[in-house]
Amino acid sequence: PVIVVDYGAQYAQLIARRVREAQVYSEVVPHTEDVASLLARDPAAIVLSGGPSSVYAQDAPEVDPALFDAGVPVFGICYGFQAMAKALGGTVEHTGSREFGRTELSTELSTELSTEPAARGGVLHADLPPRHPVWMSHGDSVTKAPAGFTVTAGSDGAPVAAFEDLTRRFAGVQYHPEVAHSPHGQQVLRRFLHDVAGLRPSWTIASIVDDQIARIAAQIGQGRAICALSGGVDSAVAAALVQRAIGDRLTCVFVDHGLLRSGERGQVERDFVAATGVNLVTVDAADRFLDALAGVTDPEQKRKIIGREFIRVFEQAERDLKAEGDYRFLVQGTLYPDVVESGGGTGAANIKSHHNVGGLPDDLAFELVEPLRDLFKDEVRRVGLELGLPEMIVARQPFPGPGLGIRIIGEVTAERLATLRAADAIAREELTSAGLDNDIWQCPVVLLADVRSVGVQGDFRTYGHPVVLRPVSSEDAMTADWTRLPYDVLERISTRITNEVAEVNRVVLDVTSKPPGTIEWE
Ligand code: XMP
Repeated sequence: PVIVVDYGAQYAQLIARRVREAQVYSEVVPHTEDVASLLARDPAAIVLSGGPSSVYAQDAPEVDPALFDAGVPVFGICYGFQAMAKALGGTVEHTGSREFGRTELSTELSTELSTEPAARGGVLHADLPPRHPVWMSHGDSVTKAPAGFTVTAGSDGAPVAAFEDLTRRFAGVQYHPEVAHSPHGQQVLRRFLHDVAGLRPSWTIASIVDDQIARIAAQIGQGRAICALSGGVDSAVAAALVQRAIGDRLTCVFVDHGLLRSGERGQVERDFVAATGVNLVTVDAADRFLDALAGVTDPEQKRKIIGREFIRVFEQAERDLKAEGDYRFLVQGTLYPDVVESGGGTGAANIKSHHNVGGLPDDLAFELVEPLRDLFKDEVRRVGLELGLPEMIVARQPFPGPGLGIRIIGEVTAERLATLRAADAIAREELTSAGLDNDIWQCPVVLLADVRSVGVQGDFRTYGHPVVLRPVSSEDAMTADWTRLPYDVLERISTRITNEVAEVNRVVLDVTSKPPGTIEWE
């Protein structure tokens, strides 16, 4: 793999995605990993990410020069570029000229730095406009490249904004090629990977699918596997992959906890089964969940109860399946960001007890099968399409495991669930028919069940509940912004909900980013 060393930038994950978009497999590791274990991963190339603003800052992480002796191609970005320059004997200075945001990069360098005209821009920037915009974020600057490097670009604030040493297959840029604000960035990254490091673009969705099917078949052998389907994309794609590998020795279990949205169960029972022909067991457990949730209003308590009940139902389903054979393997739709986050979570606060349908306790005696743990969400979606899953399953927006249970602020009851389900269905329908599904990450609809407000409808006073629309845009749900939905769409949603859902007389819009708000209300 290409190893992205994370120097604490919020960009490391993004760099890994961009490397994969160049069809080269990549993984992120923290900068605290020492060179020996890093090299033990057999990297095809190493990318040093951005990070703290100054290599001279106290506690600034250094690059161990041994990294450059291994014969592995290295690409430095921003902080990584400076750390690389410093480690190899170049000069990094506080020049006082900081650059943040859009900056002009030039490959027409001043005479003392300029290279042979033929080398202008170097391999990385060859054929790009001699002046083009890039995204910068730096305080210090490299003022002298290390020996052996050719300087290939500069900017007003960064005399050395790019360099390369083709013999050792090292290169670096001061700017952030991974962000969309550097329009030629992906091209530059691709040139490093393909032309400087000499890597072949072979990480394709078809290759991922073949590779995973072979691995799963090897892991499970003649055994049997069980998969908890949530109706979401991840578990559906994981199940479809495993099914390709072991056929009907896979059984999927779908727990209807009564907190689903309208149409959800049908989508799993009909559409998923139609697309895959998978063995499916649906467990009706709505009463059990509602009983357990009676009288509960505290969000964390709700989450814990739902998680607990889910496990009980699932364990029962597993016991019922014993008659058929020994289900020793458990399929989970764990994604790469989940893995990275749980690995790097030093002292992370427990904001919410995230309950994934996969979030089963350790003492469940299963061996895990996690075919998606190397992938990002968008890659998972492409794998799903490659496997022939319908667009309506693959393109689904995230829906939390605890379902509508954490979108009713107050006690969860059957009546309130019916109200929220109706309002939610209208919002989703209107967003879909406005063609906005791909523009939003998700749009929870939240019922403020303990709040009432006065309204007027057809000359009568009403005293109903508000619902909140929470449309958000996000890359990975770690941060999010509220989506600026067109007013006419908001108007249609509001009018329809207040007309068609008797208990709701007011629709409000949540305009809070994350942070400080989370996406869900509970
Ligand atoms: P928050 O509310 O933490 O949500 O900003 C971030 C993303 O995670 C989803 N979410 C969950 N997903 N189990 C899940 O599988 C959960 O318990 C859970 N809680 C929140 C939420 O919908 C959003 O996409």
